[in-house]
Amino acid sequence: MIRAAELIEQKRNGGEHDPEELAELILAYARDEVPDYQMAAWCMAVYFNGLTAAETHALTDAMVRSGETLDLAAALGRKVVDKHSTGGVGDKTSIAVGPIVAACGVPFGKMSGRGLGHTGGTLDKLESIPGYRVELTTDELVAQVRAVGMAIVGQTAALVPADKKLYALRDVTATVDITSLIASSIMSKKLAAGAQAIVLDVKVGDGAFMKTLEDARALAELMREAGTRAGREVTCLLTDMDQPLGRAVGNALEIHEARDTVRGDGPADFTELVLDASARLLAYSDLGVDLHEGRDRAEAAVADGSALEVYERWIRAQGGEPDPAVLERAPVRRPVQAPRDGVVTRLGARAVGTVALELGAGRRMKGDPVDHAVGVLCFAKRGDTVLAGDDLAEVHARDETAADRAVTAVLAAYEFGDSSLPEHGIVLDVVG
Ligand code: URA
Repeated sequence: MIRAAELIEQKRNGGEHDPEELAELILAYARDEVPDYQMAAWCMAVYFNGLTAAETHALTDAMVRSGETLDLAAALGRKVVDKHSTGGVGDKTSIAVGPIVAACGVPFGKMSGRGLGHTGGTLDKLESIPGYRVELTTDELVAQVRAVGMAIVGQTAALVPADKKLYALRDVTATVDITSLIASSIMSKKLAAGAQAIVLDVKVGDGAFMKTLEDARALAELMREAGTRAGREVTCLLTDMDQPLGRAVGNALEIHEARDTVRGDGPADFTELVLDASARLLAYSDLGVDLHEGRDRAEAAVADGSALEVYERWIRAQGGEPDPAVLERAPVRRPVQAPRDGVVTRLGARAVGTVALELGAGRRMKGDPVDHAVGVLCFAKRGDTVLAGDDLAEVHARDETAADRAVTAVLAAYEFGDSSLPEHGIVLDVVG
């Protein structure tokens, strides 16, 4: 019988778990033998006292062992590459990267997650497409990747069930932003899904779980080490999350923007990240291209329409309708106008993510429904010059009261100055 209360006490008092005992706690939780309230207390103890590298690796291994593993590479007879993000605001990167990479001939079979706190989740975004099925069996997943080149699915119940439970619990107990728990959550899924090479998008800034480059680097190193220990190649991109990525924040709005980007009509920062991540995945693949050639091929797939074709085939294969006209539109749309002339010096990502959450685009409680239509479009971003009265953003809301609140909150997320700012790209650093 697992002594969960003793392990909670040990971690509360700053002690270090024996790896076997930690593994037993995680495996027992996955078997429903430890209740959520005890795991929530343990997560909070970890929040304050952390996990050592040895504990983090034991946790990652136990998460992988909590369920089945998948060998996509063996099933497809190809080297399999994968990507994952640590979570941000307006982060629809996988939805655009998948079709580009697949259009270049590299299979892309990805398991994604749901929204966490003020950050959105790829599955919630995809479910705003009427008919889209996030749950495929392993056989369906493999068959679809063979036929269409790609699939994005929910984590099956059988794969890393411990993370599935823990992820949802952390979301509603303020225990998401812990380096060791994020590293083990992400890496256990990547290792169990069988990718041989992994590109991790580690978000840094106000809207990310990692607020500083230093913390993001520590997370990146931890994940790389977990990958290397398991014989996988891992590269981490540290990317800017001080402002929302692209313009759209909110499920259906982000699907629109991801599709626009796949056809070469996306916002500059988002397009840059999508092409960079795609190029790295191609360079890791069995195509035998370097990063430069990978970038050229990714750009070509966007320019010649082949990425859009894959996007449409993929969405149809998963039961959805790719025409963006079918996406639900919010009944109330309101502009947010610039109060003065000037340069946008700041657009708080966390604040915008929280507005979207409050409009209903995310969950407050485990199992809450998500409103797919609502969100925010941010037209003016850091460094843009605006005139008083210009539309900075547009709020998409379910009703007038929610719209009123959101307009005020989005305006408060903006700061203005009188002179232009030093520019930096979306990719701040690369680890690995
Ligand atoms: N993404 C994950 O998959 N897990 C986390 O803990 C955070 C972001």
